[in-house]
Amino acid sequence: MNPCAYLECGSVKWSLILLLSVSLFRSCLSEQIPEFALMEVKENEIHEAEIEEVTVEDELDSEDQEVFYPTREWQTVRPGQAVPAGLHMRLNLQTGKNEARIPDPENEKNGMTYKKKGTRLGKVNIDSNVYTPQELKKVLAKFKEGTEEEKAKVEGIKQKFRPIDDLMKEFEELNMRIETDFEIMTKLINKFNSSSSSLDEKAAALHDLEYYVHQVDNAENMFSLGGLQLMINELNGTEAVLKELSAFVLGSALSSNPKVQVEAIEGGALQKLLLILGTEQPLPVKKKALFALSSMLRHFPYAQQQFLKHGGLHILRSIFREKGAEVLHIRVVTLLYDMIVEKELLQDSEVNSEQMKEKIEQYKQVILVPVLIEQGWCKIISDLLGLPEHDTREKVLKTVNLLLAFCKGQYRGDQKLNTTLNLLRREYEELVEEELKAGEQDSYFRELLSSVNEILQNLR
Ligand SMILES: *[C@@H]1O[C@H](CO)[C@@H](O)[C@H](O)[C@H]1NC(C)=O
Ligand SMILES: *[C@@H]1O[C@H](CO)[C@@H](O)[C@H](O)[C@H]1NC(C)=O
Ligand SMILES: *[C@@H]1O[C@H](CO)[C@@H](O)[C@H](O)[C@H]1NC(C)=O
Repeated sequence: MNPCAYLECGSVKWSLILLLSVSLFRSCLSEQIPEFALMEVKENEIHEAEIEEVTVEDELDSEDQEVFYPTREWQTVRPGQAVPAGLHMRLNLQTGKNEARIPDPENEKNGMTYKKKGTRLGKVNIDSNVYTPQELKKVLAKFKEGTEEEKAKVEGIKQKFRPIDDLMKEFEELNMRIETDFEIMTKLINKFNSSSSSLDEKAAALHDLEYYVHQVDNAENMFSLGGLQLMINELNGTEAVLKELSAFVLGSALSSNPKVQVEAIEGGALQKLLLILGTEQPLPVKKKALFALSSMLRHFPYAQQQFLKHGGLHILRSIFREKGAEVLHIRVVTLLYDMIVEKELLQDSEVNSEQMKEKIEQYKQVILVPVLIEQGWCKIISDLLGLPEHDTREKVLKTVNLLLAFCKGQYRGDQKLNTTLNLLRREYEELVEEELKAGEQDSYFRELLSSVNEILQNLR
């Protein structure tokens, strides 16, 4: 946006303009008031000779006009003084006075840039019809007696157009923050590891740590600080709440972070997570352990192989025999679905690198579906269609569809499944109709319905 448009440069809002950062001031003036001609010159185009050529005499025609003689130092521009072109101008907020100087190319790197304007560099272009020294006097006077309303407006504008110094400061703070994250994490890890910390303090430290490790760099730093191993060790600790929270931290750190995934499996996390899932533990501990396990297995075929080798599917299956662990069921199905799809997607994609070849080789050794069939997962999964939540059913329908090719024989003879699917069909047909009546465009239930129909079709 043209700042001049915003400021109504042509109008009498000069007191506002005077308060603005130099760049705004300059660009507005140079457009509207040629006698100021605060020409913009790119910093590397500045030549001292040209600056020194700045003269005013030729064009100054008014006898009462006092000329401002610029130097490399900031000098106050008195009201009524004519200012030559090519200068740096600023408003000294302490004195309320305008100041100008010859730009110093060495010192301007972080500040303004100047642009050559035609061939007129070094010449002052005066057009006193636009802006006279008398007017400048008035403006300065007006500025001093600025109303509260105007001051508020100026504040608003200042916030919109922040000076470069502020931006630099913010940038510095941004750099600092990365270092601060590291420092905070060091403190949290020490707090957790300290024998003098109470249980509550340790739990609070893990809670905070979890927040930080979502960031990839932070998660890797947790490893280099020794925190990852502390989390893994805690998984077989004695305090349920610390087990739960360390699994939580692990899960977040492992999410989409291949480096941490490798370190975690080398640190023995997989066996400990499976131990939690396969033994009697409070539900919140199991929930977070399942979260950490899922984060560890996703997109990491080596971990998937190890998971199968250690009887991971058996352990997950045992969860379905537990009372009160229903909230975990759909999470298990989601994990299995993701693992199957992940492998299929990779098999379908083009092989265009050695790395890809290697990955496909690794996935080939993840023998998941045959084991699922053997262990009776077809029925375990389709039984979940009886659950009431649409989101759950959506996931289960997708998984059943995915497994259909392998589970067909079993599903065909399953009267209960046939009944369930037909009930679902009726329910979703009604919901689709309601959606249509309500004029909804993207039909959520239509998708569920077509999923149900697809399965029924395939089972015929
Ligand atoms: C945790 O504390 C133990 C015992 O004080 C110490 O040996 C170990 O280095 C600490 N670990 C970390 C990661 O700070
Ligand atoms: C946790 O397991 C490690 C070995 O993996 C063992 O050294 C440690 O004593 C166990 N901790 C508890 C509290 O059982
Ligand atoms: C499935 O159920 C529907 C209605 O409940 C019935 O008409 C159909 O014959 C059943 N199909 C099989 C294969 O049992």
